[in-house]
Formats: sequence, structure tokens, C-alpha cells
Amino acid sequence: MDILAVVIATIVLACPVLGYGSGAPPGACASMIPNHGAVPQTSVAPYSLTLSSAKYGCGVDSVSVTLAGTGGANFRGFLCQARADMDNVTTVGTLSDDDATLTFTNNCSAGSITHSEKSDKASAKFKWSPSNEKSNVHIVCSVVQNVSTYWVKAIHEQITPCSSATSATLAFLASVAVLLAFVI
Ligand SMILES: *[C@@H]1O[C@H](CO)[C@@H](O)[C@H](O)[C@H]1NC(C)=O
Ligand SMILES: *[C@@H]1O[C@H](CO)[C@@H](O)[C@H](O)[C@H]1NC(C)=O
Ligand SMILES: *[C@@H]1O[C@H](CO)[C@@H](O)[C@H](O)[C@H]1NC(C)=O
Repeated sequence: MDILAVVIATIVLACPVLGYGSGAPPGACASMIPNHGAVPQTSVAPYSLTLSSAKYGCGVDSVSVTLAGTGGANFRGFLCQARADMDNVTTVGTLSDDDATLTFTNNCSAGSITHSEKSDKASAKFKWSPSNEKSNVHIVCSVVQNVSTYWVKAIHEQITPCSSATSATLAFLASVAVLLAFVI
């Protein structure tokens, strides 16, 4: 009976590590590894990210992001983060639920989002909103197809600021044009 209790306790303790039906846990925030106990896939992930805009600022207040399977691949879980660099664990801005049917949650910093249940999903839509950053932002995702098949930080897309340098250059060119107009 004692041995049975130990066996049951071991299974109960091990199972949450395998399941995570309610989203990626706080322990997975920095590494973005689901801790499923299986080895992550090294193949090209059958998923993609589509951005509503590759730039922010200059009138773009938020960027809509769609995570979807390519070639019909579904997924049960995901953890996406907005990072200044792929390997920088500090997130930037906010990721929030923007899906018509699915509800997402977040057990990490504001710039993170994860699934809240483990049904098979064809896509997940959320949005990124900047706070005060002027840096490039990488939307980076780990995707879980099932308990034994998952990809870590395998898909990512970059959003770049509508830079003040570009605006300054345009302003400079405009003033040069005005000067030329006077000279000619
Ligand atoms: C994530 O956060 C939600 C809501 O705060 C909570 O209900 C859920 O249990 C958390 N999930 C994990 C795996 O920590
Ligand atoms: C990580 O990103 C944050 C937010 O942009 C930044 O403040 C910090 O300097 C970065 N850290 C490193 C080591 O690059
Ligand atoms: C997980 O998905 C892979 C690839 O589709 C499949 O080969 C495998 O049998 C699945 N495993 C489980 C436990 O569902």
C-alpha cells in the first residue's frame, strides 16, 4: 500500500509536467521550454506567424499577430513572448488576447501569452501593444503539437519601430527640397 501510494504520488507529480492544460507555467517563462519531459523537435516547425504590420509607431498603435499551422498542422499549446532580442528574457510591451473564439492566459510578464486549455487549435490570434520602447521587437513562440511533439522558440517575426531617424531624415530631405525650390 505504501509503495502504491509512492507510485501514485510520483505519477501525480509527473503528470502536470506533461500536461499544462491551463497554459505555460511561470517556470517556463525564461526558457520557453514546456518541460514536457520529451526532447524538443529540431525540424522546421509547421507553424507560422502573420503580422498585421511589420512596423509600429507612425499611427500603428498595436500589431495583430496570428499563429497558425502550415499544411493543416494543429497545436494544443503555445507560449509567445515579445522580446527585444530572441534570447533576452525581458519582454517588451503587452501581448493580449484578440481571438474571436479562444481565451488565452498569461503566467509570465505582460509581454507573454499562452493557451488556457489544450484543445487542438488551427490558429490563435493576439495583439502586441508597445509601451515606451523604440527597439525592434521579436514575437517568439514555442508551440506544443501534443505532449511529445513540441518546438521551442522555433517561430518568430520581427516588428520594427517607425524610427525617429527615418522621420528626421525625411524632415531633413523636405527642408533641402524647400531650399532647392528657392535656389532654382
Ligand atoms: C496560469 O494562470 C491562471 C490564471 O492566473 C491560473 O488559473 C493557472 O492555474 C495558471 N497556470 C499555471 C500552469 O500556472
Ligand atoms: C533586454 O531587453 C531589455 C528591454 O528592451 C533591455 O532593457 C535590456 O538591456 C536587454 N538586456 C540585454 C542583456 O540585452
Ligand atoms: C504527436 O504528434 C506526432 C506528430 O503529428 C505524432 O507522430 C505522435 O503520434 C503524437 N503523439 C501523441 C502522444 O499524440
